[in-house]
Amino acid sequence: MARKTTVRNDDEDDEPLESARESGRVAPAADQQRLDDELRPSRLEDVVGQRAVVERLRILLDATKKRKEPLGHLLFDGPPGLGKTTLATVIPRELGTDIQITAGPSLSAPKDLLPYLTNASHGSVLFIDEIHRMPPTVEEFIYPAMEDFRVDITLGDGINARTINMKLQQFTVIGATTRSGMLTAPLRDRFVNREHLDFYTTEELATIVRRNAGKLRTEIVDEAAWEIAIRARGTPRKANNWLRWTRDFADARADGRISLDVARAALRMKGVDVAGLEEQDRRYLETIISVFGGGPAGVQAIGHTMNTPAETLEDEVEPFLLREGFIQRTPRGRMITARALTHLGVSERTSSAAKKRMLPDMFSE
Ligand SMILES: Nc1ncnc2c1ncn2[C@@H]1O[C@H](COP(=O)(O)OP(=O)(O)O)[C@@H](O)[C@H]1O
Ligand SMILES: [Mg+2]
Repeated sequence: MARKTTVRNDDEDDEPLESARESGRVAPAADQQRLDDELRPSRLEDVVGQRAVVERLRILLDATKKRKEPLGHLLFDGPPGLGKTTLATVIPRELGTDIQITAGPSLSAPKDLLPYLTNASHGSVLFIDEIHRMPPTVEEFIYPAMEDFRVDITLGDGINARTINMKLQQFTVIGATTRSGMLTAPLRDRFVNREHLDFYTTEELATIVRRNAGKLRTEIVDEAAWEIAIRARGTPRKANNWLRWTRDFADARADGRISLDVARAALRMKGVDVAGLEEQDRRYLETIISVFGGGPAGVQAIGHTMNTPAETLEDEVEPFLLREGFIQRTPRGRMITARALTHLGVSERTSSAAKKRMLPDMFSE
């Protein structure tokens, strides 16, 4: 039986959530979860892109099925919205086994993890999202479970304390993290299979948009699917969210079909520019320019200035800006690049006031 624990997303605890929600940047965690589930591919063959990863997974799955042995522990890392949860849920379905789902932040002590371990049936999957946020005590508790399929439980304390050793079924841990760098070496080493997910090409995203428009029973022209794909920051979740928004826009302001003009108007209204950058991305770049003179600036300092947790910047903002060459990471901090200045319409000596006046230019196609 599938045991499900709602994945708690408390990344947003100390974020000025209301303003973020109003700008439409994030849906509340539970909503986003539901929306993700609605459009999530359910079989490996429906997964678009990540060709090399998918090919390796197929080999692992085939070998596992042939040998009738549990799959080796598997770790996915990569920025949010690229398919970690999707792949983690596709795997047990392909293997025909059960899955239990939990997340690092909701495992505050070994006792929280214990029921998952004892419930795990032979060959089943335990998916631990945000595994880098598991506290050290839980981490130590999971080592013998992953390595030898046993747990050591201490009962009582003082001179009465005794440790009992409990045998577990052989199962598979699938971990997901946006920060593989934050995993301790011993934990990372216990994953025999590690896969890194990277940003998607525009073509792959356009395929996802067209397919999902079909699932949502919405007509979309190819140019509009392409337009959404270009502005989705290499991220399927973003592409899906923009698709939903343009669909609402098309229903409310047009005849329900997503034409190129409808897509452009809808995205302009959300403040997404031609490079796919949103309000928060531009504010980040502008902060480095106007407060830190273009950098180098530490992410903590940038976060303080923007009143945004550094963790949010590192997870959600920086990976794409780095990939696209809008910022550079140096040992002394983040630096703005010429590409960012050109994009924002700032010459190196233009004042920030002048820059603000020039911002609307970015939306012209
Ligand atoms: N390779 C893919 N092909 C098709 N859709 C995808 C793919 N990867 C992600 N998605 C879509 O993006 C959404 C977010 O993906 P998810 O797996 O939840 O991301 P993550 O767990 O990495 O944050 C999913 O609901 C799914 O619809
Ligand atoms: Mg996820």
